[in-house]
Amino acid sequence: MSVFKLWWIKGTFAILMLLIPGNLAWGKEGHYATCKIAESFLTEEALKAVKNLLPETAEGDLASVCSWPDEIKHRYNWRWTSELHYVDTPDFRCNYDYCRDCHDSSGVKDRCVTGAIYNYTEQLVTGYNTSNSVVKYNLTEALMFLSHYIGDVHQPLHVSFTSDEGGNTITVRWYKRKTNLHHVWDTDIIESAMKTFYDKDIDVMTLAIEKNITGTWSNDISSWANCTSGQEVCPDPWASESIKCSCNYAYRNATPGSTLGDDYFLSRLPIVEMRLAQGGVRLAATLNRIFDPLYSIPQKLAYIGNIRPTSHTA
Ligand SMILES: *[C@@H]1O[C@H](CO)[C@@H](O)[C@H](O)[C@H]1NC(C)=O
Ligand SMILES: *[C@@H]1O[C@H](CO)[C@@H](O)[C@H](O)[C@H]1NC(C)=O
Ligand SMILES: *[C@@H]1O[C@H](CO)[C@@H](O)[C@H](O)[C@H]1NC(C)=O
Ligand SMILES: *[C@@H]1O[C@H](CO)[C@@H](O)[C@H](O)[C@H]1NC(C)=O
Ligand SMILES: *[C@@H]1O[C@H](CO)[C@@H](O)[C@H](O)[C@H]1NC(C)=O
Repeated sequence: MSVFKLWWIKGTFAILMLLIPGNLAWGKEGHYATCKIAESFLTEEALKAVKNLLPETAEGDLASVCSWPDEIKHRYNWRWTSELHYVDTPDFRCNYDYCRDCHDSSGVKDRCVTGAIYNYTEQLVTGYNTSNSVVKYNLTEALMFLSHYIGDVHQPLHVSFTSDEGGNTITVRWYKRKTNLHHVWDTDIIESAMKTFYDKDIDVMTLAIEKNITGTWSNDISSWANCTSGQEVCPDPWASESIKCSCNYAYRNATPGSTLGDDYFLSRLPIVEMRLAQGGVRLAATLNRIFDPLYSIPQKLAYIGNIRPTSHTA
């Protein structure tokens, strides 16, 4: 083979690698939708606090930076965060237990997605308490991590079996294209839905989900949003829901080598849309509890959902 030919192949390969999106968690669209939904359920006070913390590049829009933890996780200085995007549970048990499961691959406790949610919530709570004059952590980063990880813990396959790496090692076809089961749930279902039902526009899809939150799901949102009294955040029940969804929907009929098409797509899409809705409502409730002192009054829970979603620019 000529040197030129080899160079050409290498070059083409490098360009392809740039074009193929990496192994993102809830792809960019899923995180965008979760955070967009959350923004529309923030109280005025919480929205003000969030806007104060956002980096300038966000231009006041939380959703625009919700994929930041995925963008940095492979960089040398941030590699330690890559294990905070998920939690591995024992194979085929279909349950989750913080004490048993929340550790990294070398066994260090609290290093998993639910541990990270507690950690960044705590940083925001203490950092925002005006009686504490010294702020130890970068609260801009804490807000972006928290918003991202609350999205991740709702992606069922981010709380799933250890040996298949949350479906990453389960090779399947999505219609004609080769992919893996984890990627199907992060990205492929959402992208196919956008193409088939939502004008290829994530804002259109997000609005449809918001419409159901204030409609079909309006009786459910206060139970979605609630949390043990006195606590700002409750990621453990959310993780338990995810592993149940993994067993009942994600892994089912998706054995290695299988082809997933219309049957799988149309039956799983409602689950994906509900998880995006729950992630968004719960992120809003969490940020409201952290940043809005009045929000902790129990009857204020009903306030959620009464806010009309902000209009989106398509
Ligand atoms: C909590 O956040 C800080 C700041 O990012 C980090 O140094 C620490 O390792 C985190 N701990 C866990 C358990 O996520
Ligand atoms: C703020 O911090 C102080 C001192 O640590 C604590 O006593 C107080 O309860 C905190 N306030 C809130 C609203 O958490
Ligand atoms: C906080 O983190 C953001 C994002 O990494 C960074 O741009 C900013 O400079 C940091 N702020 C401080 C005070 O270090
Ligand atoms: C909204 O709810 C309707 C009725 O239950 C359902 O048919 C539709 O698929 C839902 N759409 C979304 C985006 O959740
Ligand atoms: C929230 O409320 C629902 C329904 O009342 C209950 O089943 C659930 O356990 C509560 N969640 C928490 C974290 O307390």
